[in-house]
Amino acid sequence: MPLKEFLAEEVHRVDTALDRLTPPGSAHPATIHRAMRYSLFAGGKRIRPILCLQAAAAISGDAAFSKSTALDAGCALEMIHTYSLIHDDLPALDNDDFRRGKPTCHKVFGEAMAILAGDALFTLAMQTLVRLEGLEPIVKIRLIDELAFASGTVEGMIGGQVTDIEGEGQTPTAELLDSIHHAKTGALLRAGVRMGGICAGGNSSQIEALSKYGEHVGLAFQIVDDILDVEESSEALGKTAGKDAAQRKITFPAVYGLEDSRRMAREQASLAHIALEPFGPKARRLHEIADLIVQRKS
Ligand code: IPE
Ligand code: IPE
Ligand code: MG
Ligand code: MG
Ligand code: MG
Repeated sequence: MPLKEFLAEEVHRVDTALDRLTPPGSAHPATIHRAMRYSLFAGGKRIRPILCLQAAAAISGDAAFSKSTALDAGCALEMIHTYSLIHDDLPALDNDDFRRGKPTCHKVFGEAMAILAGDALFTLAMQTLVRLEGLEPIVKIRLIDELAFASGTVEGMIGGQVTDIEGEGQTPTAELLDSIHHAKTGALLRAGVRMGGICAGGNSSQIEALSKYGEHVGLAFQIVDDILDVEESSEALGKTAGKDAAQRKITFPAVYGLEDSRRMAREQASLAHIALEPFGPKARRLHEIADLIVQRKS
């Protein structure tokens, strides 16, 4: 099946699972559930849960990894990612009015509810992992550890967001750039493939290989995000373009220029391909996704 069709099916599978795992909009108190659902179902690419599923597939050989464990674990990751976007857009952070082609959560529900919706997606993610069916408790603890670490302050998403915000207006150095991108974006993408590998019962060298792949696609992903912020329109991105320069963010184009940034994204994809060698043809989709991450236009 061509990648585009395959991804469309996977997005549908992720959306259906997220719907099952999230309280209905009518559940009391309804506002928070409506706010959570508004952002969750605003039309994300679902790249993180798909990476989680495909990492499991690379180990098991089941091309769509039909077991619900990696699907639900990937959804937990998507909940954390969505919470990070809701908070990233708040006036106190990037102050963005558009996300996933729609007004941001705080624009529709107000700041208080947007902060709480982010918090609630975090706790729902943890609950989702605790309640995964068909996994030993020790495996669930590993998954929780992976996701909590990747979301956290030490080389994780929150730590990266702190460095990103504190870096605004500072001299953009390669060291600072590296630490921001690995943490704010790389950590969660890498966690996705590690979690998929854990769900499929991968051994330590398999998880290590997936981790390397995740590291490289994670960095490529944020390099491209920075490039698209310069090159694409807000319509194409579904979020406000040109914001990084306006807010004097430390980005790849700011440090290296566009040309070198493009080359570095391609280099990261090549390293990601090499990391997949131990999996042979079972990693076909992971290879395709690494290329897609570099070629994407939104
Ligand atoms: C945007 O992530 C934020 C970054 C970490 C660069 P995505 O580009 O994956 O956003 P969605 O989930 O598709 O909206
Ligand atoms: C956000 O990075 C990363 C997280 C949400 C953790 P950006 O601020 O570059 O993401 P966009 O461009 O607003 O999606
Ligand atoms: Mg930001
Ligand atoms: Mg932002
Ligand atoms: Mg960005």
